[in-house]
Amino acid sequence: MKNEVMTLGVIGLGRAFTLMLPTFVNHPKLQLVAASDPRQDAVNRFSTEFNAKGYSTAEQLCADPNVQAVYIASPHQFHVEHVKLAASHGKHILVEKPMALTVAACRDMIAAAQAAGVHLLVGHSHSYDLPYLRTREMILTGQFGRVRMINAVNFTDFLYRPRRPEELDTRAGGGVVFSQAAHQVDVVRLLAVSRACSIRAFTGNWDSKRSTEGAYSAQMSFADGTFASLIYSGYGHFDTDEFNGWWGELGQLRDSNEYGRARATLKKAHSPAEEAEMKNRRAFGPMGTDSFRLSPNISHNHFGLIVVSCEHADLRPMPQGVVIYGDEERRIETLAPPSVPRAEVVDELYNAVVHGKPPLHSGEWGLATLEACLAILQSAESGQNVPLEYQI
Ligand SMILES: NC(=O)c1ccc[n+]([C@@H]2O[C@H](COP(=O)([O-])OP(=O)(O)OC[C@H]3O[C@@H](n4cnc5c(N)ncnc54)[C@H](O)[C@@H]3O)[C@@H](O)[C@H]2O)c1
Repeated sequence: MKNEVMTLGVIGLGRAFTLMLPTFVNHPKLQLVAASDPRQDAVNRFSTEFNAKGYSTAEQLCADPNVQAVYIASPHQFHVEHVKLAASHGKHILVEKPMALTVAACRDMIAAAQAAGVHLLVGHSHSYDLPYLRTREMILTGQFGRVRMINAVNFTDFLYRPRRPEELDTRAGGGVVFSQAAHQVDVVRLLAVSRACSIRAFTGNWDSKRSTEGAYSAQMSFADGTFASLIYSGYGHFDTDEFNGWWGELGQLRDSNEYGRARATLKKAHSPAEEAEMKNRRAFGPMGTDSFRLSPNISHNHFGLIVVSCEHADLRPMPQGVVIYGDEERRIETLAPPSVPRAEVVDELYNAVVHGKPPLHSGEWGLATLEACLAILQSAESGQNVPLEYQI
């Protein structure tokens, strides 16, 4: 093994893992060396496919001395336990979004990482996507004046993708606020370049068969006077990929004629157990996915329509670059297509683990985003503006 390669162990070989697989397999500075999952068939396939260690418990994985960093992609409710476990074994950590279900759990995770002297990063979230990082760099040059307003709009079929029962129960971390606002709030916070102060929000729960939040509309205010509007619908009707030339969230080119596919597919599941089984077929397993083989035609990941209004330009990050609508001209700053999708996630983790560079998406960053997501739920419930305490 080359010195500069970081070794990674995985906790949870489900859907999120399959989405990160193309990154893990193709990133030159990372080697997958171990994984754990209660699904033994998935572990067996992982070991064979990647010539790596397979474990049935997270504890065994964290005790493996060959693992430098752990990617935690277990369901939300296990994040706190798995982060503490990994930290207690001295492993650096990348934990999936949402970081946890409560502010207290996030604080415990941060304290555990600090006590162990390890880096804790939260991601993947779409705020790692290159078009958003590049837009932030452009904003920080000051050439467009200060950010004044951000509009973020995303319409998807999120609620009709196959789910485990707890993913449709808000009290257990279900619904679009925990799973999708975690992306959108992250992107908006990244681009606002100021500390968030408060949130006023409304949520929609419109399908009694899937009784959790499927939509929200939130207004966020920031310390420097910036205000942002965050709108999300996962009800599978209008689709904002239309605004991105039908490039999908994962950088794949979509067929615009496949209208209503998520709902139609879901009809084939006749019980929560059948639906969970349907979800499992999208996870890594014996019949698993070949998603780690790179498609030749990919763009950057994205999270719907985002427009950042600065004093002298509107900036619109898109899958192929950033469109600048300036005072006198409109132009696009093109970004080369990614050679490795979501490479920025591994880059940030690697730079923290190998070079000691403090990560942007730290535990404190993840806590701030989770606090804002919880504030969306709280504001919708109370009808009040909710002040934010843990913003950075
Ligand atoms: N960033 C993204 O694009 C993205 C996409 C999907 C999911 N996620 C996040 O990833 C996490 C997992 O979601 P998912 O959709 O992959 O769920 P999933 O059900 O598909 O996968 C979870 C996996 O964890 C395993 N697991 C359960 N208990 C475990 C334990 N105690 N130890 C080890 N493994 C365990 C399950 O067997 C399963 O393989 C969630 O927090 C979700 O928000 C992120």
